[in-house]
Amino acid sequence: MAELMRHEVRRWAREVKGFLAEAEGLRLFELARECAGRAPCVEIGSYCGKSTLYLAEGCRLAGGYPVISIDHHRGSEEQQPGEEYFDPELFDHAVGRPDTLPCFRRTLQRAGLEEWVIAIVSDSARAGRCWPDGPASLLFIDGGHSEKAASADFEIWAPRVVPGGYLCIHDIFADPAKGGQAPYHVMQRALRSGGWSLVEQVETLGILRRRDDAP
Ligand SMILES: C[S@@+](CC[C@H](N)C(=O)[O-])C[C@H]1O[C@@H](n2cnc3c(N)ncnc32)[C@H](O)[C@@H]1O
Repeated sequence: MAELMRHEVRRWAREVKGFLAEAEGLRLFELARECAGRAPCVEIGSYCGKSTLYLAEGCRLAGGYPVISIDHHRGSEEQQPGEEYFDPELFDHAVGRPDTLPCFRRTLQRAGLEEWVIAIVSDSARAGRCWPDGPASLLFIDGGHSEKAASADFEIWAPRVVPGGYLCIHDIFADPAKGGQAPYHVMQRALRSGGWSLVEQVETLGILRRRDDAP
């Protein structure tokens, strides 16, 4: 059902800076379209809005809730000056830190999807602790990739996913030679808990479903 995504949004999602393969994005689009009528989708790690566009377009077609997209917009460890994914175009010289919020806002505006996104500019764990308990139909974890950050996102946000809802984790690498292990460890932990079933893996996007009989 990827063809339901508007061509101009798909083209813009391809062009915007970011860290998501098109096949992964299209799967997020389909999942959001399937479940956004039940409860909001929550994204951790907006960056410049690539994944957000797929989720928001799915929410729009579902006619459901907008996606809640959380990011402090100061970049992950690997996006800081001197690190592998540093982008000088996204650096705010006035404060000496990256700032991806202007790029994120432009992305949403150009795609005509501003009203389908509620942006939360915050550390994800802090936002989760302050947020009153509320259900999520889909949780997409793509924020900090350290063991501490990825575990906190899982512990704080995953309990909100409703039975039958989805947990999507980006950058799953079973082989440590291919990439960092924190997202993979979170996925293994979720599966061991007995509360989640593996649906599939699309490139490096792990997709789990909350079991109806989750403990
Ligand atoms: C890999 S990028 C996300 C890529 C994005 N999903 C895409 O499709 O291009 C990770 C993002 O997570 C954010 N981030 C890292 N740690 C965070 C934290 N503790 N709380 C909120 N955002 C965080 C960074 O600012 C960065 O924008």
